[in-house]
Amino acid sequence: MSRMKMKLQEKIPAYRDRISTLVKEHGQEVIDQVKVFQLYGGMRGLKCLSTDISYLDPDEGIRFRGYTIPECLQKLPKPAGAEMPYVEGHVYLLLTGDMPTEEDVKDVAQDFSERSKVPDYIYKVLADMPKDTHPMSMFSAAIVSMQRESLFVKQYEQGMSKMEYWQPMYEDAMNLMAKLPEIAAQIYRMKYRNNVIIPPKPELDFGANFAHMMGVDHPYDELSRLYFMLHSDHESGNVSAHITHLVGSALSDAYYAFSAGMNGLAGPLHGLANQEVLRWIQRVMEKMDNKVPSKESLTEFVWETLNSGQVIPGYGHAVLRKTDPRYAAQRDFALKHMPDDEMFKLVSMLYEVVPPILVEQGKAKNPWPNVDAHSGVLQWHYGVKEYDFYTVMFGVGRAIGVLSNLIWDRAVGQALERPKSLTTEMLEKAVGIK
Ligand SMILES: CC(C)(COP(=O)(O)OP(=O)(O)OC[C@H]1O[C@@H](n2cnc3c(N)ncnc32)[C@H](O)[C@@H]1OP(=O)(O)O)[C@@H](O)C(=O)NCCC(=O)NCCS
Repeated sequence: MSRMKMKLQEKIPAYRDRISTLVKEHGQEVIDQVKVFQLYGGMRGLKCLSTDISYLDPDEGIRFRGYTIPECLQKLPKPAGAEMPYVEGHVYLLLTGDMPTEEDVKDVAQDFSERSKVPDYIYKVLADMPKDTHPMSMFSAAIVSMQRESLFVKQYEQGMSKMEYWQPMYEDAMNLMAKLPEIAAQIYRMKYRNNVIIPPKPELDFGANFAHMMGVDHPYDELSRLYFMLHSDHESGNVSAHITHLVGSALSDAYYAFSAGMNGLAGPLHGLANQEVLRWIQRVMEKMDNKVPSKESLTEFVWETLNSGQVIPGYGHAVLRKTDPRYAAQRDFALKHMPDDEMFKLVSMLYEVVPPILVEQGKAKNPWPNVDAHSGVLQWHYGVKEYDFYTVMFGVGRAIGVLSNLIWDRAVGQALERPKSLTTEMLEKAVGIK
């Protein structure tokens, strides 16, 4: 058994006791109240989910297992001479809650490389899809096509105690995570590089192997490690995390649950915003004959977008009320590696121009940039210019958080999710409308 699975096995009993005491002794205490607007307003802010893997503070941003992004970047083990930590260490941290040692990280890396072989039939499924299929549909289809590999399903069919559910869920989740970099990179190469596939190098770490299979040189390996880590988790209420949890609550296996989550990530208000940012920036650049616009013309373009009833992609957030630290981490990377990049200059200018305009418009509760405002420009700089692909990479990162949650969901026996709905008439009556 891997060190990480052993660590979980050690931790799960005490955690189960903690949750069961909380529910048994305090199950009737009120944490939050539902307001009418929340029934129509996407349940915004309603405190009705629980996770210990990450927490999103509106002002501070994300903490992974209690650590801020700069703390993770500083404390997680790194490959020799590298700037960015191993993704494998971040997996260990999210899943177990403990900062990994070098040995722990090597163990995860070894485990991933043993699980990483993608079944050949997946490439046949992908090759048979129409050429104009969106890469996110290919990614989701590849994941759900592997559902027949699920060990959870096999063991469930044979009859298994509820206490054991987490174990095959762990195996499925790890098998899936290990295969995603290759699936993603091969989708890219199939679709945008004339189907010239670069075979994996399992001896490389998660991020470096992805960069290698994409066919992009250093420091893209550093960027990949940073990118997957930053996109891993954003507590449990965001669409991709919530769907994965919801579908998993029906005891659907990790393949079904995660592919459903990816279908949610493919929405332009969620993960697809990173491609929309690039599309929008391209439109600005085209309008300006591919020169960085002046502040005045950029201001005009932002207002034009808003006045035509569209959102400024990459700005605003459902929870955050400050600049997203994931944006800041990517900005630091850009300042170090590509300070003179024209598109980066434009993104920096947008950071100055957009927030005051959104404040003046007075609609968005958060005028500051989110993770998606920056990610595409970094990809573009290293030659990954096919922005339809960007959300797939978001999905590879997001797997780490949502699949870790799914393992813990099964470990503590999270119930089938089934909130109650009311009719409009009932609501009108409840508030005194006759
Ligand atoms: C992320 C997002 C979906 C959050 O939605 P939300 O929680 O409903 O946001 P708010 O409460 O601030 O929305 C209030 C109003 O401001 C608008 N608004 C929010 N962000 C905006 C933006 N970036 N540009 C223009 N208008 C925006 C909303 O569309 C809404 O308008 P409405 O009252 O006409 O419906 C929203 O900010 C958005 O659409 N951003 C752009 C897409 C994006 O970057 N998504 C990735 C998020 S990580």
